[in-house]
Amino acid sequence: MEITLRKPVIKKLAVLAALVILSLLAFSLNAVAVTTDQNIDVTFLKADGSGTSMADAAVNGDASYSINDQTLTIPLKPIQVGPITGYVTGITVQLAGGPVTVSTAQTAPYTATTVSIPIPSGEVQDQAQFDVTFDIYMSTGSHGTADAIMNFDFVN
Ligand code: HEM
Repeated sequence: MEITLRKPVIKKLAVLAALVILSLLAFSLNAVAVTTDQNIDVTFLKADGSGTSMADAAVNGDASYSINDQTLTIPLKPIQVGPITGYVTGITVQLAGGPVTVSTAQTAPYTATTVSIPIPSGEVQDQAQFDVTFDIYMSTGSHGTADAIMNFDFVN
């Protein structure tokens, strides 16, 4: 009787131990999140992951993450395609807590600018990737949206 009772207890303990190990692993993965200000090389990849996106040409140097403001600031510049100039007028980032949309609040004539996106520090990790949608305005007067993937590479 005693033996038949013990076996399920051992099984339960083994499952518990496995869960503890898994949560320790998950914790150590989260531990790479930033705790100080961080410069980030932001790369935009095609939404299907097949290479660098056209949107990458709009990035005007390294982005910076402020731990105090919990905000990522990306420098942007217009994209020139033949006679047409295109500008990012807004960006939506899919974060763990839901989508966040910010505007560059630019008015013509468009020049180099920055966009500041609130991102919780726990999501700011080297190699992190986020789905994004750009709001784009063209010098022809047309506007639209385009999807991409935002990739982080920490700059040391
Ligand atoms: C300068 C005027 C622009 C023109 C004439 C233009 C034209 C085009 C065309 C024809 C495509 C579809 C073909 C392709 O996949 O390569 C495309 C895709 C795309 N464009 Fe533009 N675009 C302009 C500006 C912009 C701007 C300012 C952004 C945002 C920063 C942008 C982001 C994208 C994205 C994300 C795609 C999807 C394909 C990819 O990721 O490369 N474009 N654009």
